[in-house]
Amino acid sequence: MDGAPAGKAGPSRVTIRPAREDEIETLCRIERSAAQSFRLVEAFSWIATGEVQSAERHRDLIAKGTNWVAAVDGDWPVGFLSADIAGPELHIWEISVDHLHQGFGIGRRLIRHAVEQARAYGLDAVTLTTFRTIPWNCPFYERLGFCTLDEAELPARLAAVLDEEAEHGLPRDTRCAMRLAIKD
Ligand SMILES: CC(C)(COP(=O)(O)OP(=O)(O)OC[C@H]1O[C@@H](n2cnc3c(N)ncnc32)[C@H](O)[C@@H]1OP(=O)(O)O)[C@@H](O)C(=O)NCCC(=O)NCCS
Repeated sequence: MDGAPAGKAGPSRVTIRPAREDEIETLCRIERSAAQSFRLVEAFSWIATGEVQSAERHRDLIAKGTNWVAAVDGDWPVGFLSADIAGPELHIWEISVDHLHQGFGIGRRLIRHAVEQARAYGLDAVTLTTFRTIPWNCPFYERLGFCTLDEAELPARLAAVLDEEAEHGLPRDTRCAMRLAIKD
């Protein structure tokens, strides 16, 4: 990032590229490390030891070309963004940056890359679901241009994603769906 401390991985040294199958284990490790940030918020600290995205989903999205890594010196992945095309939208399933590399703009670079890819695919929007009040979730995406969707007007696809997450222990009232329009 602009102004990243010397010796840390600022975006100028970060490359965003498609993930490879032989990196799936590394991506799972990155997600576990990333989740350590939830220890900062007592009500959500249990997420630090929660489930991570399955190897199957990583494999599927790698095959589709919508699973990207942020790699630093020596092409070593420190973050990833997994997404899938859902109709005219790109849906972000997961974004994680290794705990030690957080706060240097890598997450922002990954989101911007996904938005650029969605635009290149001719899609209408990028969507995701996230926690409403965690500072590096909803407020972070809002600063990147995402809008929180009104509960009463949620598209069926995103309502179903939130319902499924609730079944996996993510309380429905703490979650929201967000959308960044690429086309008007
Ligand atoms: C979300 C995540 C991918 C962002 O990656 P990152 O490389 O740290 O992202 P950036 O450095 O580009 O930006 C992080 C933003 O969160 C903010 N942030 C991070 N920790 C924060 C904290 N404790 N309090 C307030 N703001 C915080 C930063 O200020 C920054 O906002 P800004 O760039 O608008 O100023 C990373 O925090 C992560 O992996 N978190 C754990 C997993 C997770 O929450 N995934 C998203 C699920 S929807």
